[in-house]
Amino acid sequence: MTPEILSLARYLASSRAEFALSEMNQYLSRKYEEKELYESLKPHFFDLNLFCDAHYNCTKLANRPLPADEQVIRELEEMLKAPLLPPAIEKLIGSYIERSCGKNWHTGETAQLLRENIVKQKEEYWRGSPKYPKIRVISYLLYHFPVYFCQFQYLLLDLLKGGLLTTKMSIVDVGSGPGTITLSAIDFLHKLLSIYSKKGIDVRLNIKIDSIEKAIENIDCYNELTSLYLSQNPKENASIFIKEPIHAPVEKAQPLRDADLIIFSNILAEMSAHPAERAGIIEKLASGSRNPTIMIIDPADLVNSKALRITQHALVKKGITIYSPCTFIWGTGCKGEDCWSFRDEGDIRVPEFMRKIATEDAYRYLNSDMKFTYAILKKDGTVEHKYRAGGKFARLSTLKKHVKKRINVVVSVMSGNLGDEKNFVLKICDGTTSVPCYAVLPAYHKNDNNLALLGANYGSIIEIFGALVRENKEFSSYNLLINRNTIVEPVK
Ligand SMILES: C[S@@+](CC[C@H](N)C(=O)[O-])C[C@H]1O[C@@H](n2cnc3c(N)ncnc32)[C@H](O)[C@@H]1O
Repeated sequence: MTPEILSLARYLASSRAEFALSEMNQYLSRKYEEKELYESLKPHFFDLNLFCDAHYNCTKLANRPLPADEQVIRELEEMLKAPLLPPAIEKLIGSYIERSCGKNWHTGETAQLLRENIVKQKEEYWRGSPKYPKIRVISYLLYHFPVYFCQFQYLLLDLLKGGLLTTKMSIVDVGSGPGTITLSAIDFLHKLLSIYSKKGIDVRLNIKIDSIEKAIENIDCYNELTSLYLSQNPKENASIFIKEPIHAPVEKAQPLRDADLIIFSNILAEMSAHPAERAGIIEKLASGSRNPTIMIIDPADLVNSKALRITQHALVKKGITIYSPCTFIWGTGCKGEDCWSFRDEGDIRVPEFMRKIATEDAYRYLNSDMKFTYAILKKDGTVEHKYRAGGKFARLSTLKKHVKKRINVVVSVMSGNLGDEKNFVLKICDGTTSVPCYAVLPAYHKNDNNLALLGANYGSIIEIFGALVRENKEFSSYNLLINRNTIVEPVK
């Protein structure tokens, strides 16, 4: 592109509320097709604050939170109730596998090789030493991609509800792999736009996506999948520009400027740095941005889940603040020690390509449950729940002196049901102690007084009146027994 096109666009963007690209020809030294102008300016729309539609009319884009009224949220929640890969994404991944491994990839030797690699990849991951040759990119798509794609959208929904998603966003996908997070974010925004258009809400999006990835095989896959998806699924009100991935270990990457949302999805466990030291890498990457939303997502297993809380705590020590899921109900920060807490969003409907590889030993090759550990952080102290406790409740750090007594507490619910259908067990926390505490509700005590315990979303706050404190010496933990007289109330 000649510099005169960009400088003219910059001038028009700053001096006019709207203009047609064709008008530019009045001022340029030679004539261009509108399409040519559009293509050459596309990488700059974000920085120019412009939205140019399919008819090449450009308007200034005001950055504002995405509308999130009750009806919009309800429709989105409805869509996420039956989590699955959208057909276009399932087809995209299925075709990629077919192009890479042949039409009959799910039979004979190829299928065997893929199955072996799914198993090896899982083993390597738990050892913290995964590698990504092309075959592992395919096994990742087959086994891990669908769950990680779906679970991310629940976190985006949280951000939407909290007003943290805006019409103009610069997103950074760190350790992007084959493009799980990038594709999931685009699909989520497309879903939102379709709800807005159904409801007659005029919203235009201008999104820029950067990514950082150390394995070239993943970058090749990322480039192919994301560019194909965007070209096959254009959305009238969305200008989405995916930048060339940065091929580097995140430890060596330069901080990106003015990012709004930085996501580390399933990458921390692969870093060689100790969990506390990972905070330095995250902080450095976020240092070029004023107040980005930083999202860290990791698996729910004991080791990775606890490690994430250590990283989170180290970030807090550096002045970065927790938006969710933890609420410091008493205003005291915890130490992030010995904290195993994860979110459970149930099962996805597995895609056809996963079924095809799981025709034998299905339990090894089907991956459907969305259990994940996460932290969402900000720099400015914004929190999901502003609630602070008053004096009428006991702190969980004082449970020792209340053993065998009935007490009132106010806590965040930090798990789904860890028990079974006879005994509901939920992890609870108020930020005052590292000793694990659980609310235990035997099914036969379940009634209207205490039902709110089971309806509480992960991270939400409840008040419990009249719970019996029991010490569980075997597990060095405390149980708060909820019976039919215990009252549980959600905090709005
Ligand atoms: C488990 S995959 C996660 C991919 C994707 N984010 C997701 O959630 O599905 C981890 C990715 O992080 C990349 N990775 C691991 N360590 C990295 C590092 N230090 N710097 C950049 N990328 C890294 C790997 O190459 C891989 O693509």
